[in-house]
Amino acid sequence: MDNNVKRNEQMNNKTVLITGGTSGLGRACVDVFLEAVWNVATFGRRFNIISEMRDVYRNKNLIAEVCDLRISNHLDSVLDIFHKNFGKFDAVILNAGELGKTPLINSSDLELNDFRSVFETNFFGNLSLIMKVVRNQTKGNAIFVHITSDAGSTPYPGWGPYGSSKAAMDFLLRIMQLEEGKTGKRFISFDPGDMNTEMHRLALPDDAPENLKDPYDSARELLDVVERR
Ligand SMILES: NC(=O)c1ccc[n+]([C@@H]2O[C@H](COP(=O)([O-])OP(=O)(O)OC[C@H]3O[C@@H](n4cnc5c(N)ncnc54)[C@H](OP(=O)(O)O)[C@@H]3O)[C@@H](O)[C@H]2O)c1
Repeated sequence: MDNNVKRNEQMNNKTVLITGGTSGLGRACVDVFLEAVWNVATFGRRFNIISEMRDVYRNKNLIAEVCDLRISNHLDSVLDIFHKNFGKFDAVILNAGELGKTPLINSSDLELNDFRSVFETNFFGNLSLIMKVVRNQTKGNAIFVHITSDAGSTPYPGWGPYGSSKAAMDFLLRIMQLEEGKTGKRFISFDPGDMNTEMHRLALPDDAPENLKDPYDSARELLDVVERR
């Protein structure tokens, strides 16, 4: 373990796992939680960004790893690294997300695999992570926060795979809250609003950036939700 990580770990025993910390809301969450003196574990697929983050944050309580949420043995490897360094998580932010094929088109014009690939990340990837950490890698009163979207509760044309995958995950967390709530764990969804990020630019390239939320504002709201827990 990095000496700085070891030393600074004493400052706060709260640890968060933020999936998809390489851009947008995930990266903003990394900064905001670090600023609030949390230990932060994160991952994403882009090696160049993970390696740049390791450099930029080398004096912070951050562990950043390359991992594809859809691949079970990637998750096993990074969870092992996080556990050896930070122990159990107090919070898990299920932020990594996949928009799907762009430009957005009607569901009946897509192939089944276009749906499958979005669900592979937004539903099965998240579920796989929850299953791996819920039993022995989270503290008793840990909170799981699914980053959802209004597209998961309001039907918009063109948002079939994304909207239905978010809705499915939201519903599963409501079930898990009933199943696991008595253990002290919490399962919630959090809608960050329309933010100025790569994903939003791909989905709605005509939206003016000045009309979109700064992901750092959403990250601060999310920190508040988690800390009020
Ligand atoms: N932007 C909005 O207006 C908006 C609104 C409502 C909800 N959201 C939700 O907010 C979350 C963050 O999105 P964003 O807007 O910040 O978009 P973004 O900048 O495109 O970020 C998406 C993140 O997910 C990661 N990711 C995607 N697939 C992954 C996989 N298979 N394994 C590991 N990491 C993966 C990406 O990292 P790598 O590419 O490095 O893997 C990236 O860090 C998403 O769940 C999105 O649905 C966004």
